[in-house]
Amino acid sequence: MSKVIGWEHMSSSFVAPHVPALASLPAGVITLQDHETHARTRLDDNAWAYFSGGAGDEITVRANRSAWDALQLHPRILQPLAGGHTRIELLGRTLAHPILLAPVAYQRMAHPDGELATAHAAAALGAGMILSTLASTKLEAVAQAVVQDKDRGPLWFQLYLQHDQGFNRALIQRVEQAGYEALVLTVDAPTSGARDRERRINFRLAPGVSAVNLAGLGPMPAPALQLGQSALFDGLLQSTPTWADIEWLKAQTRLPLLLKGVLHEDDARQAAKLGVDGIIVSNHGGRTLDTTPATAAVLPRIRNAVAKDFPLLVDGGIRRGTDVLKAIALGADAVLIGRPYVYGLANAGAVGVAHVLRLLRDELEMAMALSGCRTLAQVSPALIFKQD
Ligand SMILES: Cc1cc2nc3c(=O)[nH]c(=O)nc-3n(C[C@H](O)[C@H](O)[C@H](O)COP(=O)(O)O)c2cc1C
Repeated sequence: MSKVIGWEHMSSSFVAPHVPALASLPAGVITLQDHETHARTRLDDNAWAYFSGGAGDEITVRANRSAWDALQLHPRILQPLAGGHTRIELLGRTLAHPILLAPVAYQRMAHPDGELATAHAAAALGAGMILSTLASTKLEAVAQAVVQDKDRGPLWFQLYLQHDQGFNRALIQRVEQAGYEALVLTVDAPTSGARDRERRINFRLAPGVSAVNLAGLGPMPAPALQLGQSALFDGLLQSTPTWADIEWLKAQTRLPLLLKGVLHEDDARQAAKLGVDGIIVSNHGGRTLDTTPATAAVLPRIRNAVAKDFPLLVDGGIRRGTDVLKAIALGADAVLIGRPYVYGLANAGAVGVAHVLRLLRDELEMAMALSGCRTLAQVSPALIFKQD
């Protein structure tokens, strides 16, 4: 287990000089759950409600977790394991492992180094990173920090389309110019969910934290509501994306386009038909519509609905190397983690994010070896135990 704290993989330049928490990860923090428990002591109630909360009764938040737990691995023995690895092929690149960092907004509320620390850690650990439209750091600064690192994983940009097409076009151009390699359009949040914990606490962004990449976006033209009209349907939702925008978006960019937030196999089929380059099966970590199925439950249907080699990623509740292995067995090419790395960030900045990634990757290697899998290409649905 000495490999678990594998800092030798990290370039010396990635730790910002003022990261105060370099040595402060308590010795007992050895799992992603430990990171969560420790992060609760580092974040104030406002930030905790934001980062850890979900929508409604948080039924989907819990379902995501319990669905991975409910699956059992059915290992094979005495398989040749030497020379094994966690590499995968994704959108024309070879990645060291199948773990990416999901887009999470406002990371400077978790740690002053925010998205920059996350980007350095992802690069050092060869993990993909998806920067949120609602990042609290300029997209150019994040790209500049890591884009030249030849060992880094893919750098993608998550897009929330705004009401102003001109602004959207300019944002996409900035993203392309900065060196991002794919656009991830989030499609499961035309409005935010009923995030009760935030509402109870009267959540506020921390001072100095804002969606800096949306600076210059004018206010949404607000039609005067008539008596009996809905503030949501007749107001806010006037300009939310539809399938027609997917075609528009594809025409705006040379970058591959992925949709994030797909739960229905018919939507997956339609996306593939429209030439979308990949799908992220996601329910937004249970933060939008509560009581949706767990992502582990819908993943096999979506795999069956699209071509065998159609890029499919999944997130929601992935906390263990065994969860990653199960996701691959159910048909995912790669997984994303959200809250766990933000807890790592809160705990120790870039070092904490890197620690989370290292833990998960090491657990994945162990799970593969103990299941009799040398490579992820060998992992199939047969690895999931089926009761007679
Ligand atoms: C605090 C927080 C902020 C998030 N912000 C975004 C966002 O800006 N864009 C987006 O597409 N998803 C966002 N997500 C959803 C994540 O990308 C991801 O789908 C989810 O966190 C995965 O579940 P997990 O946290 O259980 O790993 C956010 C999630 C959290 C927890």
